[in-house]
Amino acid sequence: DLPTSFAETPGAGGETHQSTNAAELTMTTQQGIPIADGQNSLKAGPRGPTLLEDFILREKIFHFDHERIPERVVHARGYGAHGVFELTDSLADVTRADVLGTVGQQTEVFVRFSTVAGNAGSMDLARDVRGFAVKFYTNEGNWDIVGNNIPVFFIQDAIKFPDLVHAVKQEPDRGFPQAQSAHDNFWDFASLSPEAWHMIMWQMSDRTIPRSFRTIEGFGVHTFRLVTAEGKSTFVKFHWKPRQGLQSVLWNEAVKINGADPDFHRRDLWNAIESGDFPQWDLGVQLFDQETADKLPFDHLDSTKLIPEEDIPVRIIGTMTLNRNVDNFFANTEQVAFCTQNVPPGVDFSDDPLLHGRNFSYLDTQLKRLGSPNFTHLPINAPRSPVSNFQQDGHMAMRNPKGRANYEPNSWGAEGGPRENPARGFVSFAAEIQAPKQRIRSETFADHYSQARQFYVSQLPIEQKHIGDALVFELSKVERVDIRARAVSHLRNIHDDLAATVADGLGMDLPNAAVAAKPTLDLPPSPKLSILANGP
Ligand code: HEM
Repeated sequence: DLPTSFAETPGAGGETHQSTNAAELTMTTQQGIPIADGQNSLKAGPRGPTLLEDFILREKIFHFDHERIPERVVHARGYGAHGVFELTDSLADVTRADVLGTVGQQTEVFVRFSTVAGNAGSMDLARDVRGFAVKFYTNEGNWDIVGNNIPVFFIQDAIKFPDLVHAVKQEPDRGFPQAQSAHDNFWDFASLSPEAWHMIMWQMSDRTIPRSFRTIEGFGVHTFRLVTAEGKSTFVKFHWKPRQGLQSVLWNEAVKINGADPDFHRRDLWNAIESGDFPQWDLGVQLFDQETADKLPFDHLDSTKLIPEEDIPVRIIGTMTLNRNVDNFFANTEQVAFCTQNVPPGVDFSDDPLLHGRNFSYLDTQLKRLGSPNFTHLPINAPRSPVSNFQQDGHMAMRNPKGRANYEPNSWGAEGGPRENPARGFVSFAAEIQAPKQRIRSETFADHYSQARQFYVSQLPIEQKHIGDALVFELSKVERVDIRARAVSHLRNIHDDLAATVADGLGMDLPNAAVAAKPTLDLPPSPKLSILANGP
């Protein structure tokens, strides 16, 4: 019986002030006591002292003191909107997931776009990856695709994530800069991490200074599985394609916009939706089986690699429309909790080691950020489908088990509460595992440069120039020249022209190529990777 919106929770959502009922317009304390004077504290005489008895003063200050919650450890700055997803092509042949089964079915969604590195109050046009997180409120529980606007990631194994984020966020001694790339620590880490260089090519491209949230693509990044009721698995990569086209700004435009309006992206999204110009994205899938995966020239479990659309085309299966702004930024955008492990029956995980770390990390951090294991009771996180189990109590519990029993097995019959349902319930794909337990990186993850080079050669000349300019600009902020040289040495493994341009721009000699393996494959250009080739 959980209310699905704050409006249905008497007094809980601050919505009552919109009522036209005069009695409800009276200001009250959080306990509902009507307030006669909220502007003067209770004093002994006109000049005090102030009395401890003043519960109105104490409650007001107490609540204010606790307004802030921890911001997200990454993706702290974001902006969200409500919408709907409509399926246009059924995947019923490859998944039992209800949300992907019936053409024409509409599913409510909530989307949060974000930057990664900056703090909650940072500017929108930083050169940074954009988060693109979607929560589908399906008939079978919540499904989250927690993606980015770039299809690959900096690292291959979740155990490196704290290092990456420490290197990316402000330097620990001086507390700046907030920009993702412009400092010694980031480039130190990157220049010691060959696996990062495919993503760095994307990061230095125009993709990281988008014109609008409405003009970015979204990617689920990892390989997931779709699974049928019979237990047949198909690998899948998820793509969001903006109907507005792909658009970015130039770096000097980004710098000006940041100064003139640090809220540029959130204002743009708000205004578009408010004026009825609803942004839309098509959801696409790349589907492939184990046999195809085995033939790919890289490992489909490696999140630093993508599957070119020329090799496995993206099949469009539906459209998402964002059609409603939030009316309570904190309750919706700040308190929404996405997690890669939120999947309905019929969607499952591959063995990508980055994905497995994420599945743990989001739930763990949200307990701290939202303060209670009951954050799923918040309307924005509550499933729209029925929730029934024997979990109970805890901070701010809005629901508890109903009936005689709160344990299983029990013999209370109809009073005994919910029962497992093998036919409807989530069944993990029965992947075969027979391997030694060891701390290791697979040899199949070892080629770090082939796709980095493929990305570069897929760009139009002006886009290649922007990548070179961005690298010169960012590396010129690095004080230690040995770090600059180590960074450029990776570029020699990607493309000699780019390495020469950047070395020249930095006024340094061209260093030797990085010691790590050179590209092993000469992959053809993939025009889909160019913004200009795919713009509006
Ligand atoms: C937050 C994407 C890798 C930990 C986020 C958000 C996005 C995202 C979009 C913001 C969610 C929101 O709007 O609330 C990605 C992508 C990754 C990746 C696409 C790689 C493919 C990782 C890894 C870890 C991690 C490897 C940890 C092992 C976190 C944490 C948050 C977060 C702790 C904050 C969550 C919260 O406080 O609600 N990520 N991430 N991410 N990510 Fe990731």
